[in-house]
Amino acid sequence: MTLMPWERELAPIAERLRVGARTTVLTGAGVSTGSGVPPVRGDEGLWRRYRPETLATPAAFQRDPGLVWEWYDWRRQLVAGCEPNRAHAVLAAWTRHDPTMRLITQNVDGLHERAGSERVIRFHGSLWEVGCWDRCPSSPARWSDLTVPFPVLPPTCRYCGGLLRPGVVWFGEGIDPTVLADSEAATACELFLTIGTSALVYPAAGLVARARERGAFTVEINPDETPVSDHVDLVLRGTAEAILDAIEPHSAAR
Ligand code: OAD
Repeated sequence: MTLMPWERELAPIAERLRVGARTTVLTGAGVSTGSGVPPVRGDEGLWRRYRPETLATPAAFQRDPGLVWEWYDWRRQLVAGCEPNRAHAVLAAWTRHDPTMRLITQNVDGLHERAGSERVIRFHGSLWEVGCWDRCPSSPARWSDLTVPFPVLPPTCRYCGGLLRPGVVWFGEGIDPTVLADSEAATACELFLTIGTSALVYPAAGLVARARERGAFTVEINPDETPVSDHVDLVLRGTAEAILDAIEPHSAAR
């Protein structure tokens, strides 16, 4: 049987999973490419065709909320037609098997939740949440809205009739303080896996170094090299779907 190059390297992960190591996973767009969701960067990336400055900033929304909503409504329609893949399914099983496991995702597609992952820390928010652009007093900060497609763009706030905004983090906006605190707490672990992210966007990209500082065995799963590749304990050069599928039997062993 021919082994994939990384299959011999799973032992350090399997051993830690076997002894019940606290495990934290950080995911990026690479775990959803197998479901047909385009990544952010690269030849197939969203930003090959769209300019984030004109679509993913508060100023862009202020300038043309209809245009910004056309793009987000298109992304919601695209993701609604995608299914979680094997990578999402394995990570969902891990969150169900192990209540100490933490899953932090930079993705806004909601596929981890649709696969059944519990306690997902959504670092950059969600396509499937909205908020009142004017933060009207009777509205919560964010709420779920699965309407797809929206009959009218831009959609309006059910509390004040003003503009709705997508529940995602835009450039120039901060990360929710609770999400930051939960993510920092999750770096206190024995095993940290960074999967399917180009590790270019902070503060998310800094979590793996923080976990390593705190004593975690750190692993990168990505077909391509990234800026953290030289700073983790183990690099598995392959896709999330294939590698997590190979690791899964070991995690079930606990
Ligand atoms: P990117 O598109 O920057 O990076 C995706 C990474 O996944 C790349 O390193 C690919 O090589 C890798 N990849 C592709 N297919 C893969 C597969 N099947 N298995 C494993 N890896 C694969 O997306 P992110 O790193 O997630 O933030 O981008 C981070 C943030 O940049 C996004 O969350 C977004 C953007 O700014 C906000 O919108 C705030």
